[in-house]
Amino acid sequence: MSQPNKKLQNIDPVWGRIQNEASALILAEPLMGGMVHSSILHHNTFRKALSYRISLKLSSEEMPAQILREIVDEVLSTDDSIALSARADMVAVFDRDPACHQMLQPMLFFKGYQALQAYRVSHWLWKNDRKEIAYFIQMRCSEVFGVDIHPGAVLGCGIMIDHAHSIVIGETSRVGDNVSMLHSVTLGGTGKADGDRHPTIENGVLIGAGAKILGNITVGYCSKIAAGSVVLKDIPPCKTVAGVPGLIVGEAGCDQPSQTMDQFFEGCEKTS
Ligand SMILES: CC(C)(COP(=O)(O)OP(=O)(O)OC[C@H]1O[C@@H](n2cnc3c(N)ncnc32)[C@H](O)[C@@H]1OP(=O)(O)O)[C@@H](O)C(=O)NCCC(=O)NCCS
Repeated sequence: MSQPNKKLQNIDPVWGRIQNEASALILAEPLMGGMVHSSILHHNTFRKALSYRISLKLSSEEMPAQILREIVDEVLSTDDSIALSARADMVAVFDRDPACHQMLQPMLFFKGYQALQAYRVSHWLWKNDRKEIAYFIQMRCSEVFGVDIHPGAVLGCGIMIDHAHSIVIGETSRVGDNVSMLHSVTLGGTGKADGDRHPTIENGVLIGAGAKILGNITVGYCSKIAAGSVVLKDIPPCKTVAGVPGLIVGEAGCDQPSQTMDQFFEGCEKTS
């Protein structure tokens, strides 16, 4: 077994924590030892563990995990910002999901987190003109996780996708930093426009379960979209929107709106 790199662990609290939680799990649940070892403790960096996990989950008969891993390893080692964003997403899930008690959970069990990281790989491939592999990853994410994020969409950091059944995010969507969404959210087109036809979601927005946000519209920072809403028009910042069609029903806001607005993880892709 490769030993965790103690020096790196000190400057990588997310990875250090995941390793500690994995070691504790093996003691508590020895029958999960093989899975926990191969997914976490066998690796000496967060990036390698992430690459292993994504490749394993998305592999299929026509694309074995070993080949996928070569591709994912190449992407993650070429662009450090992907694993950085993955750490920010991990912290977001841990902070915001009351059902997340350990950072090990998203890495091993949460399909929203895993699908988001696979999207990040597919987006890099898309930008680097390797669109067919990007489409392959999109297809496998959709088949395996029920999460369909077009590789051309641009997503920021610190994103939580909770439960994650039936998430659809269209090609020209932009999603800012610190956005949270529940299951069955669609960021889609209206079917009436070509080109730039999908929504922009600014920093700190919460999108409730089943909400559909359609068209080239903007949801302003820190607004909340209630579960089941259908939003068809621009929404200003810090509003609560509910209903079909979605109407402003109140004032909203993030706990620390200025922090949320300004927060930008170094190396994260700008969405606006
Ligand atoms: C919108 C939401 C975030 C609450 O935001 P808020 O700013 O605190 O809003 P309030 O609770 O003050 O509600 C404002 C108004 O919208 C109404 N409202 C809230 N959610 C609604 C919904 N999903 N559909 C229709 N109306 C809704 C409220 O009844 C209230 O109306 P009233 O002023 O006539 O009483 C919350 O209701 C919500 O939908 N969260 C998503 C949760 C989710 O997806 N859960 C799934 C977990 S698996």
